[in-house]
Amino acid sequence: MGLSRVSYHTTVRQVYRKAAEVPDGSLCCVPQAPMYMPGLDIPSIMHEMNYGCGSTVHLQDMREDQRVLYVGIGGGLEALRFAYFARRPGGVIAIDPVREMREAARKNLQLAARLNEWFDPSFVDIRDGDALDLPVDDATVGLAAQNCLFNIFTTAGSGESGESGESGESGESEEPGESGGDLERALAEMHRVLTPAGRLSMSDPVAPCELPAHLRDDETLRAQCISGCLTYQAYIDNIVEAGFGTVEVRSRRPYRLLDRERYGLDESVLLESLELCGIKVAVPDDGPCVFTGRTAIYSGPEPSFDDGKGHVLLRDLPQGVCDKTAAALAGLGRTDITVTPPTWHYTGDGCC
Ligand SMILES: C[S@@+](CC[C@H](N)C(=O)[O-])C[C@H]1O[C@@H](n2cnc3c(N)ncnc32)[C@H](O)[C@@H]1O
Repeated sequence: MGLSRVSYHTTVRQVYRKAAEVPDGSLCCVPQAPMYMPGLDIPSIMHEMNYGCGSTVHLQDMREDQRVLYVGIGGGLEALRFAYFARRPGGVIAIDPVREMREAARKNLQLAARLNEWFDPSFVDIRDGDALDLPVDDATVGLAAQNCLFNIFTTAGSGESGESGESGESGESEEPGESGGDLERALAEMHRVLTPAGRLSMSDPVAPCELPAHLRDDETLRAQCISGCLTYQAYIDNIVEAGFGTVEVRSRRPYRLLDRERYGLDESVLLESLELCGIKVAVPDDGPCVFTGRTAIYSGPEPSFDDGKGHVLLRDLPQGVCDKTAAALAGLGRTDITVTPPTWHYTGDGCC
């Protein structure tokens, strides 16, 4: 791996300093109709500075009085959407290490306050901080979110944790720390600040195969959310290894095409945008519960089927099941049990 940790972190900050000063339409956002929320008027600059590849705001995660943490504020769009639900001073904590980005978000939230009489900028507590060392106390947040940031982090698993060596000019060490790569560290931080059963809502690009080193090591492409992304499975594995025993996949759709000629690839590669939620519950002994929208349907002569492991399928009714349970039920080889494929759009009703 040819990335130097200090140099790469500097590049990331440069990319986002620029993107704070002049909106960069090429960063992240996928053209699509903006999410409509009644009574929420979004300043156009926030759309221009939408540097996310999806959304982390999902109704099923909202709880009364829960504190929300949003990491990597960008232009403030998602923080504003979370504030729509929180509606109280400090209801949303938003972290960003880039001063120019924090200032841009602050300005954009002032604009939002002029457009929305219910909103006050104090609802979003913007803090200087880093995903790798969150300025937030342990177990104080019910919902943590990040959009299109974690894909730019290096991982220890793929040998990307950076060259070792002396501290750079910033005083920052080339060593990623005891927990491995930056991604592992960022996930451990999210896990630390969440309350038990707290939720981690994430949106990031994923790749269908491991991207080649010449792209993964390109600091600018990587900082721009193009070439650092993991495969779907590696992304899920990292979340589970951080201690999230349940994972719900909410969406999976095309994000960017990396053209074979322009990116020096054997074949063009289609990146996807993945939205999911990790839940801070213990990982079961027999493996995590990853919900991808599969269902199981019993159609035999009895009113229901009980697998003896807590899953009761009522006759003819699709029951949402995690991938582990789906595989176990399919493995029974019964003609009266049908297991449907993933929809990549799980919205609740789980089995485990
Ligand atoms: C791709 S942008 C996404 C912005 C925003 N989440 C959105 O969806 O529009 C990445 C954001 O993370 C910030 N960032 C970069 N490195 C970071 C780090 N180590 N910790 C926290 N935020 C970081 C950048 O300044 C930028 O605001």
